[in-house]
This record gives sequence, structure tokens and C-alpha cells, in this order.
Amino acid sequence: MATKPRKILVTSALPYVNGPPHMGHMVEYIQTDIWVRFQKLRGHSCIYVCASDAHGTPIMLKARELGITPEQLTTTISKEFVDVFQDFGVDMDNYHTTHSPENEALTVEMFEVLSASGDIYTRTIEQAYDEKEGMFLPDRFVRGTCPRCKSADQHGDACEVCGATYTPSDLIDAVSVLSGTPPVKRESEHYFFRLSEYGERLRDWMRDATLDKNVLAKLEEWFEAGLQDWDISRDAPYFGFRIPGTQDKFFYVWLDAPVGYPASFKHLCQRRDDLDFDEYWRPGHDTEVYHFIGKDIMYFHTLFWPAVLQGSGFRTPTSVFAHGFLTVNGMKMSKTRGTFIKARTYLDNLNPSYLRYYYAAKLGPTIEDIDLNLEDFTARVNSDLVGKLINIASRCAGFINKNFSGRLAEQMPAPELFDPIAQASEQIAGHYERREYSKAMRVIMDLADMANRYIDSNKPWVMIKDEALTDSVHQVCTQGINMFRSLMIYLAPVIPSVAADARAFLGEDDWKWDDALEPLKGCTINKFKPLLTRVDPDRVDNMVEQSRDSMKESETVTVDDTISIDDFMKVDLRIARIEKAEPVEGADKLLALTLNVGDSTRNVFAGIKAAYAADSLVGRHVIVVANLAPRKMRFGVSEGMVLAAGPGGEDIFLLSPDDGAEPGMRVK
Ligand code: MSP
Ligand code: ZN
Repeated sequence: MATKPRKILVTSALPYVNGPPHMGHMVEYIQTDIWVRFQKLRGHSCIYVCASDAHGTPIMLKARELGITPEQLTTTISKEFVDVFQDFGVDMDNYHTTHSPENEALTVEMFEVLSASGDIYTRTIEQAYDEKEGMFLPDRFVRGTCPRCKSADQHGDACEVCGATYTPSDLIDAVSVLSGTPPVKRESEHYFFRLSEYGERLRDWMRDATLDKNVLAKLEEWFEAGLQDWDISRDAPYFGFRIPGTQDKFFYVWLDAPVGYPASFKHLCQRRDDLDFDEYWRPGHDTEVYHFIGKDIMYFHTLFWPAVLQGSGFRTPTSVFAHGFLTVNGMKMSKTRGTFIKARTYLDNLNPSYLRYYYAAKLGPTIEDIDLNLEDFTARVNSDLVGKLINIASRCAGFINKNFSGRLAEQMPAPELFDPIAQASEQIAGHYERREYSKAMRVIMDLADMANRYIDSNKPWVMIKDEALTDSVHQVCTQGINMFRSLMIYLAPVIPSVAADARAFLGEDDWKWDDALEPLKGCTINKFKPLLTRVDPDRVDNMVEQSRDSMKESETVTVDDTISIDDFMKVDLRIARIEKAEPVEGADKLLALTLNVGDSTRNVFAGIKAAYAADSLVGRHVIVVANLAPRKMRFGVSEGMVLAAGPGGEDIFLLSPDDGAEPGMRVK
């Protein structure tokens, strides 16, 4: 590698902390983390900062609904993100929040410079206002009938049925989502940023930023439609920064959100003497700044943000890297299908390295969506990571450990097979650099195939039986271990924790990219421990099951945990007699129950298999929630729920009324 060390600053989009991290978010943070780790491995300086996006109406309202402050809400959810990042090996140099003094100071500075140069002006606009709640309503807090196709209950900005776009005042019978009352129109003075004046400068920036062609195409579309000035203020009540010189005007969340990038970096500079804020954020320095984002927020990052930076005396990003959206099993993530999977639910079930590898194997530099197909995930990880890569080491290490006291041979018998691995170094590096991770993974796995073929054809497990071939076994296994090692170095950005274990096994302190070019010879390695086990498909199923339930839980988060008598009376509890109880194929915990509820029979799946033998249940009386909406499960439809007590597993106790009870009786 002949290039001189670069000074790079990288960001991921700041997660909006009104809900927990999910598998879609992880696409971005894993994609970014791989790139950052790759740059560091290549010997560059690469700083990775992020923060929570903490302002705006949705957070204010969510906090209000929960009876807590927005600060409490955003602190709690930020902690979830931080923990998830750590557990997935996403290694940020700093994670801050946009609700910070650094951010306020920078936002105000930008605002003041832009105001002084005439790029910010005020104008009175008319907006939907909820008189009962005493607040202006963002478009999506107004619902009503679509003026075009007359579909009911549509958002204030667009119809989900016919695709028409409009303003809230065009809706028929509009109501405020907050109070249910019809909104009125009210005037208010707003601050605007003169984006319309930035066309030329943005085009210059675009040329230098070497954007992906999809991103460029989008930008062209927007240019053609014409750049509109941007409303950067919101009226109180609002959770955000107050605009200087006003009483009741706040900066719109999307103005101060990207300022969170330099603000987080500034916060980091306070504890890092080697970093200079201006070197990365003022024009004229030899540093690079990259933003990783999702395709949904390109407008903000490729138009507003570079323009605001330009106009206020800051440097513009070197480039913006946009990725597509995650689908699960080919469809949008869905709570009812159990595919709206929280990052934490994944971690409760599966090894994070699996997902990091799978995403890498799917990711390219474009905004095409990527699909997490759970069957393919299992098959792919098992075949590539475990079957190909780890297998190389596990087939060679034992002989080195046992027969040669852990010492590698001085020679490799087939250098011509190591060479292609060393020679692929720059090709693989180029793929990483251009975010062609899927291509990098393909090259690495092809090389792993070659290594496995080599071991297969030499069969050290056969040779070892012949004493005359001892030296050959030593050399063949040394060759295998070195092929494994170089490929593991190439994969270190993707599966850093597996790579760290592999490095420890090889007795090395540190890896740099170019270490892959030089094999280890004659040194001692440590005892081999399995580096990764196969994906257990049951855990994948379990994750999906838990995702069905977990969303119900999180939607009913309330601070006041009482319900009204009316709520209670809605629950139709009945006595049922179990007529039939059978195990469910493919489900460890479930029994399929056929229940007699007096006037009808019901099929209900109950997670009581560990506690009750199916046969013992027939004839028994239980209490069932009879008016639960039928729920489609993987095994069929469940038409109710049987009440039981206890923590679960074997400790679960059906509530069984006395013998006098008859099926169908109401429980009072
Ligand atoms: N708060 C804004 C970003 C401000 S950046 C100055 C935001 N937050 S977000 O929480 O909604 O999303 C954070 C990032 O995750 C975004 O880049 C978004 O595109 C990405 N993703 C959120 N859901 C996603 C999928 N389902 N799939 C892939 N990426 C997704 O946007
Ligand atoms: Zn419509």
C-alpha cells in the first residue's frame, strides 16, 4: 500500500430517539462501521461520530404521552442505541446528542451568519392549528378524506391509496390527530433559508462529491423541479432550540439535526488533543468528511446541508453515501408478521457477527433496497462463515497443536496458492473503499473455496497416519493456517470480534491490512477454540416469535398502569373445556388446544408444552379470553388466549375453575 495516510471523518445518520433501534437501523450503522474499520486497518486516521437526534414534535408528544420529559425519553432511548451499537461491535469514537450546548452554539452561529448575509428571511404563512391543544400541526398530525379518491383517514400531505399529494387544508373533514377536533387555519411568522439561491454552488459541490449515480439522478430531478426556500422555524410548543431574539420560535429539528455531526465532533475534540475542530470543519484543509445515510433523507443531506454549510463559513462534505432500505423476507418489516425485529431481540437470540457478515454480503454502493431473508441468512452464514472460512482453521489447527506443539512449519509447500490471496489484497481493498462489500465478500469466499480444495486434496487427516509424511502434514497445515489468517485479516472490518479471537489464536497483537501479504512461519500459535458456531434455525424462529409479542408490549408502554372498569369489562372471559390437546410440529413450546366454549369450539395455541403433557389436559376446565381478535401464527390461526400464571417454561399453571363450572359461562 503506497498511499499516504488520510485524515477522515465519518458519520452515520443520527437516529431519531423516539423508538428503539431495529434491524433497518443496523444496516446503516454496520455499513458505516465496516468502512471505518477498513480505513483504520489500512493505516488511515478515521474518526467516527454520531449522536441522537433528540428534537421535534414527535418526541415532544411521545414524552407527553408517557408523562415524562423529552430529556428523559431521549436519554433512555439513547442508552438503548448506545448499548446496541456496542453489542453489535459498532465502534464510534463519540456518541452525543443534538440536545447539547455544542449543538446549540453551532446552530446559532450558522443561523447568525446566514441571517447577516441575507440568506435567512421571515415570511408569514398559514398553517393548520389545533385550538384545543393550542399548537400548530405538522402535516402528518392532520387526517381526513382524500380530496381526489375520497378514501377516508388519510395523512395531511399525501393519500396512501391513490398517491395524491396536497396540503392539510385540501382534506375533506380534516381532524387533528391530537384532539380529534377540526383544525383551523392560523397565521404565523416563519424563518426561511434561501435555498433557491444555492443552485449554482450546489452544482459545483455535486461535481466534486463523486456521488453515486442514483443519488445524482435524484438531485437532477430536484433541480428540475426547482429549489424551494426552506422553512427552518417552528412555533412553540416545540422541543428544540429557541431562535435568538424570539420568544416562541424554535429551530426546526431538521436544521439542527445535521449540525449534530460537527457538534459531536466538537464534543470529542474536548477530550482529544490530537483533533482540531477547524481542520475538519472549516474550508481549506486536507481532510475528508463523509456522511452515511439512508435513501429517505437524501434531500436533507445533499441539498439543505451542503448549502447551509457553504453559506455559513463551514466546509462541505467530501461525499454523501446513501444506502437502500431493509426488507425482511422480501417485504416491508411488519409487526404482525414478526419481521419488525428490534436490534435487541436479534441480540437476545443470535451472534452479531452473523448479521454483520450477512449485511456485508448484501451491501453495495447504491440505494437499492436490501433483503434480509431469514432462511437465506441461516444458509449463507452457515455455508460461508462456518463451512468455508472457519473450517479452514479447524481442519488444520488440531494437527499443529497436537503433533507439532503449536509450532508452524518454516515452509509453505504451495506458495503459488498463497500468492493469489496476497495478490487479491488491492482488489478487495478497492471493493471496500467503494462500499462494494458484496463484491469483497465474494472474492474472499472464492479464495476460501480454493483453500478448502487445497486441504481436501492433501487430506492431512489421512497423511498423519503415515509417519513418513509427518513433515508434509506440518507444511500443509501451516499453509492452511496462513490462508485462513490472510482471509481473516481481509474480513476483520466485517467480523471484528471473530477476527480478534482468530488473531489471539495465532498469537498476534495487532493486524494491519498488509499483514495479510506475509505468511507466518516457524512461530508458535495457541490452542484452537471454535471461533463461530452454526446459526441455530430455532433461534431465528424464536426471534420472529418474540418480535410478534414485543411490539405489543412496547405499544402499551404507559406510565399510569391502571385501566378503567370499562376497559376491563371489554374483556370477555369464559370457561372453556379442553376437548383436544396436541403438540404442534416445529414449535417447541406450543400445544394446539381445541376448546369448547359453550356455543362453539375454538382453536387456541398455548405456550404450555413444557409444563403439561398434552394428554393430561383433555377434559380440564380453563379460563379463556373469548373476544380476542384471531391471530395468525406460523402454525395456524389462534382464536383466543388461555389464562395461566407463572414465569413460563415448566413453571406455568393453568387457571382451572372448580368442577361446577360449565363451558361458556362468563367469568365475573
Ligand atoms: N433523525 C434522522 C436523521 C438525521 S441525520 C442528521 C433519521 N433518523 S431515523 O432514526 O429515522 O433513521 C436513522 C437512519 O437509519 C437513517 O439513515 C435511515 O435511513 C436509516 N433507516 C431507518 N430505517 C431503515 C430501514 N428500514 N432500512 C434501512 N435503513 C433505515 O432519519
Ligand atoms: Zn386518494
